[in-house]
Order: sequence, then structure tokens, then C-alpha cells
Amino acid sequence: MADSRDEPLVLGIETSCDETGVGVVRGTTLLADAIASSVDEHARFGGVVPEVASRAHLEAMVPTIERALKEAGVVASDLDGIAVTAGPGLAGALLVGVSAAKAYAYALGKPLYGVNHLASHICVDQLEHGALPEPTMALLVSGGHSSLLLSTDITSDVRPLGATIDDAAGEAFDKIARVLNLGFPGGPVIDRYAREGDREAIAFPRGLTGPRDAPYDFSFSGLKTAVARWIEARRAAGEEVPVRDVAASFQEAVADVLTRKAVRACRDEGVDHLMIGGGVAANSRLRALAQERCEAAGIRLRVPRPKLCTDNGAMVAALGAEMVARDRAASDWELPADSSLPVTDPHVPGRHPHVPGQGGDGASATASAHAHGHASHDHVHETAKDNLYS
Ligand code: KG4
Ligand code: ZN
Repeated sequence: MADSRDEPLVLGIETSCDETGVGVVRGTTLLADAIASSVDEHARFGGVVPEVASRAHLEAMVPTIERALKEAGVVASDLDGIAVTAGPGLAGALLVGVSAAKAYAYALGKPLYGVNHLASHICVDQLEHGALPEPTMALLVSGGHSSLLLSTDITSDVRPLGATIDDAAGEAFDKIARVLNLGFPGGPVIDRYAREGDREAIAFPRGLTGPRDAPYDFSFSGLKTAVARWIEARRAAGEEVPVRDVAASFQEAVADVLTRKAVRACRDEGVDHLMIGGGVAANSRLRALAQERCEAAGIRLRVPRPKLCTDNGAMVAALGAEMVARDRAASDWELPADSSLPVTDPHVPGRHPHVPGQGGDGASATASAHAHGHASHDHVHETAKDNLYS
């Protein structure tokens, strides 16, 4: 067996939302997972304020990178690559991470890998349960996305089978928490209240589960409205709202639909294991129900520990390390921050990759891109499109 020191040592930077995450991995081994969160600064607004998040990333970036390197017991010059979330996410927040990654990669003479946030949420499980089986069925549930994805290779092939047609699962948790005056973010607090509630107390609707509905699509908007109306009716009648029962019944409706559809997708596609990733995968009931249903269906469940489900830098490093291990093309210095990077693009290879020691450098890549006639002003958009369709 190869010496583990032969495996790629990669630092990953995540700034797509409100967590400044920096992770260090060697192959599929987690060495460090440093996080600085600006969540408390957003709480009073009831949601993430993009400008506040960007500024917090800027302040936290260098100290968090230094903390991660120290925790990993490595020096920056040992790294085999720098990976960064190139999208999707908040444009300004992404830009801070992408700029920092470019600066470190350039200064250190290391290859840069712009990777997809959603594919990273799947790949992180390699740090917990070893190499992902191929193909992998993944249920990705976060604050911005709810999708069923089938991947034969997490660095190059991610196929969406279905997705939410309205709210993401995490968004529904956040909105219901707001209606219940439980604060932000909603997921963890609803999870806590639900533990003491009766999940069968109220029969909330299960969206898109009729025989003629799209089998792998999700809808949480009807559920959200139904819960809000139920609460309003109680309040209007001057009755107390049983917060724990509402939380438990709402959470059950979400977990029921997600697990039912994920198990069905595994069965239909003949895949005998299921991976669940993204912030909502930290939910205790979703984890328990998925375990129960997977066991009954003979499906092996893979869910990372809760800290690796919510946004973090280790997941970005994990996907970056897989890119290096599979010899995927590095990104170039034109790497854009693409707020709507599609899930089908696990990474953003450059047209002029900078490979240290093999000639070609950032300056010439930039000069050549400009020579191709990109006006600097819509450059980010152009480059993103080129990368998407090339
Ligand atoms: O993946 P993530 O950290 O950020 C995005 O990429 O969106 O996901 C954040 C979402 C939030 O909506 C948060 O409320 C939800 O994940 N979340 C949870 C739990 N922990 C975080 N939802 C349900 N139960 C939890 N324990
Ligand atoms: Zn995320």
C-alpha cells in the first residue's frame, strides 16, 4: 500500500455563505478543520446579510488559514494544492475566498483548484467513511439546495435526478423558526425543540408525493404555508402554540419526504448506498429516519458527522485532494467566483492552467485571456461561461 504521505496535501477555503472555513486534508484524511462564523452578526436580521458576510470573511481569512495550518501541523510550502469554493453562493462572499486562494497559490507557486460547493458537500464523506462508491447516490440538503444527485465520479460527473421546485429544505427550517420566534439559523433550534415534541401531533402535508408527481423533485413551500397558517390560527384563537409539537411535526414532514424519495431513487437506479450531505444532514431526525429506511431497503447509509455536514473548509480540501489524485486540470488565475455555478460542474478547470515547474505562469495566462478579446468588465461572466461549455 502507498505511504499515506504520497497522498495529496491540500488546503481548502470555503466562503460561500457565512462560515469562513479552512480545512487541510491529506488524501482522504482530515488534518484540520478551522472555522470562523459570522452567524451571530446576522442573527438580528433573521438571515445572512451578504455585505456583513463578505466583510467578516475578509477579517477572518488570514487568521483562519494560519490556524488550520497550525492545527494540521504542516507548513504552507508542503501543500500540493489550494482548493477554493468557486460557487454557488453569495457573489461577494465567494470573491473573498477566491481572491485569497489565488493570492496564496500564486505566492506559494501551487496549483489552484476552483471547486463546486455542492460537490464538496458530497465529497466530504470521504474523510469520514473512505472513498465514495461509484456510482454514489447523494441527497444534498442545505440552506440553498435540495437535490438528488447521481455521481459516477465526484470530480467530473454529477447528474441531477431531481431538485426542489421552490424552497430548499434548510430554507424551510429557517422560515418556520422565524414564524415560531426561535431565531436564526432555524435548523439546529428546531431540531432541539423537536426532540421534546410529538412528531405525530399534527399531520402536515408531504409535498409532491402524489402518484403523478415528479418522483425525485421536492416542494417545501406548501408545507411552510400550512405550518404558518396552523400557528396563526392558534394565535388568533388566543391559544398557546405547542412549539415542540409543531417543530417535531414539521421536521417529520421534511424528513419523511426526503428519505422516501432518496430511497426510491436508490431502488430505481439500482444503487445500494445513499450519501446525505449539506447542513440539513446534521438534523437528528433525518439521520435516524434515513438509517431506519435504508436498513429496511438494504441500502447502506453514509452521513458525515454533523460538523462536516454544515459548511466547512475540509469539504473543499477533500474535493481538491480528489482533483489532484485524479489529475484533473487546475484552474487558472482567471478563475471566477460564480454565484450560480451549476451542480453539474464539480470544478472549474482553467484554459491556461498554471502547473508549477512546467512553464506558463499567471501573468501569461492573464495576458493570453485578454488577447482572446475579453473585455475586463464582463470578464468574470465570460470566463465562467467559457469554462461551463468548453
Ligand atoms: O450547508 P449549509 O451549512 O449552508 C448552505 O450551503 O446553505 O446549510 C445551512 C442550512 C441552514 O438552513 C440551517 O438551518 C440548516 O442547514 N441546518 C439544519 C440543521 N443544522 C443546520 N437543518 C435542520 N437540522 C439541523 N440540525
Ligand atoms: Zn453548504
